Amino acid sequence: MQTYAEIHARSRRDPEGFWAEQAAAIDWMKPFGRVLDPAAKPAARWFVGGEMNTCWNALDRHVAAGNGARTAVIYDSPVTGTIAKFTYAEMKAKVASFAGALAARGVVKGDRVIIYMPMVPEALVAMLACARLGAIHSVVFGGFAANELAVRIDDCTPKAIVSASCGIEGTKTLAYKPLLDGAIAIARHKPEFCIVLQRPQLGCELVKGRDVDWAETAAAAAPADCVPVLATDPLYVLYTSGTTGQPKGVVRDNGGHAVALRYSMSAIFDTRPGEVFWAASDVGWVVGHSYITYAPLLSGCTTILFEGKPVGTPDAGVYWRVIEQHGVATFFTAPTAFRAIRKEDPDGKLIASRDLSKFRALFLAGERCDPATLEWAMDKLKRPVVDHWWQTETGWPIAANSLGIPTGTGAHFPIKPGSPTKAVPGWDVQILGADGHPVPAGDIGAIVCKLPLPPGTFPTLWNAEKRYVDAYLAEYPGYYKTGDAGYIDADGYIYVMTRVDDVINVAGHRLSTGQMEEVLASHKDVAECAVVGVADEMKGQLPLGFIVLKTGVNRPDAEIVKEIVALVREKIGPVAAFKQAIVVKRLPKTRSGKILRGTMQKIADGEAFKQPATIDDPVVLEEIRESLVPAGYAKTPA
Ligand code: COA
Ligand code: AMP
Repeated sequence: MQTYAEIHARSRRDPEGFWAEQAAAIDWMKPFGRVLDPAAKPAARWFVGGEMNTCWNALDRHVAAGNGARTAVIYDSPVTGTIAKFTYAEMKAKVASFAGALAARGVVKGDRVIIYMPMVPEALVAMLACARLGAIHSVVFGGFAANELAVRIDDCTPKAIVSASCGIEGTKTLAYKPLLDGAIAIARHKPEFCIVLQRPQLGCELVKGRDVDWAETAAAAAPADCVPVLATDPLYVLYTSGTTGQPKGVVRDNGGHAVALRYSMSAIFDTRPGEVFWAASDVGWVVGHSYITYAPLLSGCTTILFEGKPVGTPDAGVYWRVIEQHGVATFFTAPTAFRAIRKEDPDGKLIASRDLSKFRALFLAGERCDPATLEWAMDKLKRPVVDHWWQTETGWPIAANSLGIPTGTGAHFPIKPGSPTKAVPGWDVQILGADGHPVPAGDIGAIVCKLPLPPGTFPTLWNAEKRYVDAYLAEYPGYYKTGDAGYIDADGYIYVMTRVDDVINVAGHRLSTGQMEEVLASHKDVAECAVVGVADEMKGQLPLGFIVLKTGVNRPDAEIVKEIVALVREKIGPVAAFKQAIVVKRLPKTRSGKILRGTMQKIADGEAFKQPATIDDPVVLEEIRESLVPAGYAKTPA
């Protein structure tokens, strides 16, 4: 049997041969002509000319193979006290009907459909129904405000929006409909219709002539068949934070995505057809797209849709209850969830009381996994805990301890806390210095991936090809710039340490400080502002605002800060977790006027820092420290 070293080397030496073999695990309606078109612009394209359908591969194919009675989806919702199971045959029927309902209202291949939904099975049904028709879905996370939804409506101009009356966040029932209506009112583009799922916990009024009730529409619809699409046709657009208020619409194609995700389930997650895979995330994030919806179903596994939190629904033992009750083999979540659990159950007593005999491995991603969290999880679970690294842009892991690939020396590579281990087959990860050349092992630099990127990665940004080139390809010709910085050690282990841009990671959620600054700057009393990500024990990072008030403003600081916090919640949403801002006299800047955000973050976190040589006025740093201390920051003298 080939080992990791041989498989990885082959995937880079002969990418076409390697990925053509993986593509055999997918049903094609028309074979692809070329495995890879390296000359395509702006990025190389995979499986050119091939036709397939992602929904067919996720559902119909398994039914056709005689596995229709296998459980496809388990909906476990501690917040509503519901557990429901759907077989592959049932999911196929639901998806075909809902696709029929969309088609009856004119949705065709290439149309966009926004899905703004909580964690209910209908969210998966809507995604797969779009895939069935070749329509392009764009799922928007429920924690975003109406304004953010409006930005996405205007960018991808959907023909339809699928939503629900409410979401349930822990103990709170949140009305979604006012946000939907608010977003449509703000947006320049108006959808032709909305389909709204009425949830029993909180119903809503439908807008006559625009909104239709999910239950009535789906029941009345004639089931729709799978529409063949090109491998290179988009399956979805998923918006993610960039450096500005305008989010980036990451485009995912159909063919490469299906091939790569299916491969990842066996090679990385070592999970086989019929086994239960659980990603405790949200369908609004890439983890939810790839590892709640698509990869498990493409692989014939059972996926779990969990509507709850790691703590408080009802307690820090809920994950272990779900794993025991549904026989989960592989579990995936973000380190922040484990920090929340550890805080409430430090000795892991709630873990010890459960039968976790089917549970083989835990995968953590979405943010840097601090060694203490990884070690705690390994100690309490006595199973491999795999830190793996990827991004919305890549759609599947770049680096991992790939449990399905023989190492030649053991069941998996030795785990080094703080490192997501090695590049996955298909990926060539390198570290480049400021001069654009590779740096020696152990030296920090920009983490880049040599082109072409493997299948399943983003071929462009929606409506923004130039931004795609400028943001990802221009700085290091021949490489994809990940936006992360780190190093590779002498054993080839990758360490992802920090972002090089204005992106921060709050409870595994990717947010843009630049976007928050745009909101702060829009407040009438703010002259200047900066937002940095400061360390937080549970969420990893939290945004902290610094504001300089306009001359003549003499209202109490606390009043202005309260308004600013409310403004971020209103414009971006509760997910931004923006709760704290400090009024300062001046912001530290370089002589050329660049705000020294990195230095401010270090002062707030009480870390040692070097005073930048280009600083305009060093006294400002001390002023900043003095402003931070009363708010509980800058604990260690800077
Ligand atoms: N719809 C509406 N509001 C939402 C939401 C959704 N889908 N998801 C989160 N929010 C709200 C929360 O209610 C909270 O609002 P509040 O300010 O009124 O309390 C706010 O957004 C921040 O949410 P969150 O960051 O999730 O914080 P929390 O304190 O509610 O929970 C954790 C903290 C650690 C328990 C939680 O972040 C968690 O479960 N993380 C797991 C990691 C994860 O799922 N990552 C996804 C990528 S893999
Ligand atoms: P997202 O696009 O939301 O998945 O966020 C991607 C970003 O999260 C990456 O660019 C990293 O900055 C960070 N990230 C995700 N997983 C890891 C990990 N395992 N280790 C370190 N950082 C990570």
